[in-house]
Amino acid sequence: MDSIIVTGNGPLKGQIPIAGAKNACLTLMPATLLSEEPLTLTNAPRLSDIKTMTELLQSLGAEVTSMQDGQVQAMSSHNLSTTRAEYDIVRKMRASNLVLGPLLAREHHAEVSLPGGCAIGARPMDLHITALEAMGAEIELKDGYLHAKAPGGLKGAVHELRFASVGATENVVMAATLAKGTTVLKNAAREPEIVDLVHCLRKMGAQIEGEGTSTITIQGVDRLSGATHPVVTDRIELGTYMLAPAICGGEVELLGGRIDLVGAFCEKLDAAGISVEETDSGLKVARKNGRVRAVDVVTEPFPGFPTDLQAQMMALMCTAEGTSVLEERIFENRFMHAPELMRMGAEIEVHGGTATVTGVEKLKGAPVMATDLRASVSLILAGLAAEGETIVNRVYHLDRGYERVEEKLRNIGARIERVNAE
Ligand code: EPZ
Repeated sequence: MDSIIVTGNGPLKGQIPIAGAKNACLTLMPATLLSEEPLTLTNAPRLSDIKTMTELLQSLGAEVTSMQDGQVQAMSSHNLSTTRAEYDIVRKMRASNLVLGPLLAREHHAEVSLPGGCAIGARPMDLHITALEAMGAEIELKDGYLHAKAPGGLKGAVHELRFASVGATENVVMAATLAKGTTVLKNAAREPEIVDLVHCLRKMGAQIEGEGTSTITIQGVDRLSGATHPVVTDRIELGTYMLAPAICGGEVELLGGRIDLVGAFCEKLDAAGISVEETDSGLKVARKNGRVRAVDVVTEPFPGFPTDLQAQMMALMCTAEGTSVLEERIFENRFMHAPELMRMGAEIEVHGGTATVTGVEKLKGAPVMATDLRASVSLILAGLAAEGETIVNRVYHLDRGYERVEEKLRNIGARIERVNAE
C-alpha cells in the first residue's frame, strides 16, 4: 500500500485547480440508467470512486467510456443486462446504492446489495426504503440485498424525510422523474450536488422544481432523453485546499472556486483570521501573519458547515490560539483522525460527538494511519505545518476523493511525495 511523506515547511504560494465534484459525479452517473439515450459528463474528476461507479454501471450492462484522460464519461444504458448490483462492488463504495432509484424507475425492479457499514458509521438505508415504498415500491431485505419491485411502475407521492439525507434525496428525485404523477419530497437535502443532479435531469427532459430548497417537486414523464452536462466544482476539495495556506501561512488561489459553494465554511475561516477573496479565476485564500484563532464548529446539512470538512478543520484548530469545540452531528463515528493528530502532539479530547481541541504552537511529524477519505487528507494538512516528517499510510483512502494530491500541493511549494510500498 502506498504512503505519502509530507515534510513541514513555510508559507505556501501559487494556484490549485479544483476538479469536478466526486459526490456530484457519483449521483450523475447512475442517472444514465434513466434513459436509453447517451449521457455525457464533462469535468468529471479522475478518482478511484469514479472507476468503481463505472465498474458498477458496466456490470448492469451500461456502456461507459472514459475519454480525455477520464475527464469525460460517455455513458449509454441502451441495453441493461441485469438489475442486480453485486455486493463485491457495492461494499467498496456506499454511493453504489444510488442505482436503486433509477433501476426501479426504469425497469420496475432491482436487487441492490446493502453497502454495509464503513469507518464513519453504520450508514443504513431506511430513509431511502421508506421514501421509495411511499412511491409504491415493495422492498424486502434478503441475503444482504434489497429486493425491490414496483409492478406497473412507481407512483408519485407526497413524502417527508425524517432527516435531510443526501443519498435518499438523490434516489427519490431520480426515481420520481419516471413515476406516474407528481412527487413532493419534503425535508429534502439542499446540497449543491443535488442542485447539479436536477440541472442535468432537467436537460434530459425531467420536470423538477425546488432544487436547493427543502421541498422538491417532480412531475413524472414517460421517458427521458440523453444530455451533456458539466460536473459542478467540488466544494469539499475546494475547502480542503483552502486550508493549506490557512495552516501553513502564505497565499493560494483556488481556480474554479465559488464562494456560494462554501458559505458556512468561509464564515468560520473569517472568524479564525483567514482572508478569502473572490478573484476572476476563483478564490484567493491568505494567512498573512500571526496564529489562527480557535473557532467552534457544528456540522449540519447544507447550507450548514459540511461534515466532509470537519476533519480538515480540526487539523487547522490543532495549532490555533485557544480552544475550539467541534460537534459532529451527521455521522456517529467521524473523529478517527483525532488519535492520529494526537500522535503529532495535538491536544484533543473526544466525548461522543464532540471533540475539544486546545491549540498548540507546533505539531510534530510522525507516522500516522489514514482511516477514511477525509481523515486522510486532514493528516496531510497537519503534516504540511508540522515540524519534521509525517508519513501517512493507507493512502488508498485519499485516492478515492482527491486527484493528484501530491502534484497539486507540490505546485504551491509543499514538500510531499508518494512512496510506493513494495
Ligand atoms: C453523502 O453521503 C456523501 N456521499 C457523504 O460524503 C457526505 O458525508 C454525506 O452525504 C453527508 O453530507 C456522497 O454523496 C457519495 P446521508 P450519504 O444519507 O448520502 C444517516 C465523502 O467523504 N442515514 O446524508 O450516505 C447516515 O447514517 C462522503 O465524500 C440514515 O440513518 O449521507 C448519516 O448518519 C462521506 N438512514 C446521515 O444520515 C438513511 O437511509 C447522513 O447521511 C440514510 C442516511
